[in-house]
Amino acid sequence: MMFFIQGEKMNTAVLISGRGSNLQAILYAEREKRLGEAKIQLIISNKKEAEGLKYSEIFNKKSVVISRDSFITKNEFEQKLIQTLRENEIDLIVLAGFMQILSTEFVNLYDGKIINIHPSLLPSFPGLKAQEQALDYGVKVSGCTVHFVNSEVDSGPIILQETIEITEKETEESLSEKILTKEHEALPRAISLISQNKVIISGRNVRIMI
Ligand code: GRF
Repeated sequence: MMFFIQGEKMNTAVLISGRGSNLQAILYAEREKRLGEAKIQLIISNKKEAEGLKYSEIFNKKSVVISRDSFITKNEFEQKLIQTLRENEIDLIVLAGFMQILSTEFVNLYDGKIINIHPSLLPSFPGLKAQEQALDYGVKVSGCTVHFVNSEVDSGPIILQETIEITEKETEESLSEKILTKEHEALPRAISLISQNKVIISGRNVRIMI
């Protein structure tokens, strides 16, 4: 899948709902020229109180709040999202802690152009509280997954995974912290690879051309 025109920037939108540490890592990567041909064009939050919105000012990036509560139907909410993405000529949508499930119609419209970060080694522990699920299950390794988004939650083709070891003394907090450190490396790297057309999707498999 080679859809980013060589020599042009890949306009990227980062969608958040909360703390925004992954957004911060992406913006640092862009500042340090580790984001390939990607340009962070827009930050979208579905929560006006999202802490991560502060990075809009810190990094001098445009941001907009599009809240589900401001619309009667989910469709109207998504139409607003689509309109905003189009107005900003967005090529890639990065879900970085975005806590709103997108419809099949939306996902199909942006097929292969939405990525998500999840704090477990998918397909283990999809959905909420992935770290707690991993500890409850008793796994010895965990990590994070960057994947393309399809119409089922946390189940699209996997781009990158990073692993960490779970120690005997691990708590949900310490595990989350360890995984987050890996997330902050993996997500910018995936964006960079995609922007350089080095990520090829073939069915469920994703090939990285290095
Ligand atoms: C991360 O753990 C991410 O994997 C999950 O939500 C969390 C978002 O954290 N999808 P932050 O808002 O980027 O700090």
